[in-house]
Amino acid sequence: MELITVVNLKIVILILIYRHGDGRAVFRSSVREFLASEAMHYLGVPTSQVASLVVSDEQVWRDQFYDGHPIREKAAVVLRLAKSWFRIGSLEILTSNGETDLLRKVVDFVIEQHFNKIKDSKEKYLEFFSQVVTRTAHMIAIWQALGFAHGVCNTDNFSLLSMTIDYGPFGFMDTYNSDFVPNTSDDEGRYSFSNQPSAGQYNLAKLLDALSPIIDLARALYKRMVSRKLFVNSSSQGFDLVRADKKNLFMDENPFSEYLIMQKPCDLAAGL
Ligand SMILES: *[C@@H]1O[C@H](CO)[C@@H](O)[C@H](O)[C@H]1NC(C)=O
Ligand SMILES: *[C@@H]1O[C@H](CO)[C@@H](O)[C@H](O)[C@H]1NC(C)=O
Ligand SMILES: *[C@@H]1O[C@H](CO)[C@@H](O)[C@H](O)[C@H]1NC(C)=O
Repeated sequence: MELITVVNLKIVILILIYRHGDGRAVFRSSVREFLASEAMHYLGVPTSQVASLVVSDEQVWRDQFYDGHPIREKAAVVLRLAKSWFRIGSLEILTSNGETDLLRKVVDFVIEQHFNKIKDSKEKYLEFFSQVVTRTAHMIAIWQALGFAHGVCNTDNFSLLSMTIDYGPFGFMDTYNSDFVPNTSDDEGRYSFSNQPSAGQYNLAKLLDALSPIIDLARALYKRMVSRKLFVNSSSQGFDLVRADKKNLFMDENPFSEYLIMQKPCDLAAGL
């Protein structure tokens, strides 16, 4: 039974800070997050959800289309809920600061709360890593199947629970385009739709690095070797599940449902 829900007050959208420096979320993107995270939840993707959305009296200037025509928009505060807000980056920072005791404490806490079955396992940290690989591969497979591009796939925005978090410049594709990039300032397409599986793989390799102070080096090396295969396998399974689900959900009534499947596992694997 999951009893813990951690609350995170989101009042900041990163792209807007960089461009405008006032650090406020606008009503428009807050509604987008609310709608998209509900949709993702009901499509079976593990995700954070929006508990409340408060519109502020304050107005902010935004150049919505980045064409030099800023308009006044309403600001808003979104209350986001998730079972945990720990990210791969939360462990990386501890490892890079040499805070091994704290690293162990945080990982033990996450295992105790969310990976309870492995808490008494002899190699629980490696076990933990494998589970994050499996679940993250699964999550990304579902993203690919739905045509969802997260937009900011760095280790800070990848949950240790493999939930979709940090709805920022995300997007759903209208028609299939493997180069789809939802973040208008991601000029190089670093986090394009088709780069998501390899971005996920990269982040998982960083997770293994972050865990290195508390796991045996030889075992870690071996793990690195098998994790790619595990990732590919799990993505295929995730993809098949979505396909099966979609068949159940829409196939009979909706002749377009087959087009909802955006990217096949062989493409996923090819991207790695
Ligand atoms: C990505 O994660 C970092 C660290 O928590 C956060 O500051 C940033 O706002 C996140 N990006 C988005 C789009 O939410
Ligand atoms: C969009 O991409 C740019 C370039 O990679 C990056 O600097 C920026 O942080 C991204 N936007 C968000 C909201 O993460
Ligand atoms: C991947 O799947 C194949 C075929 O089902 C299986 O033989 C192999 O052991 C799996 N590898 C991993 C790392 O799970």
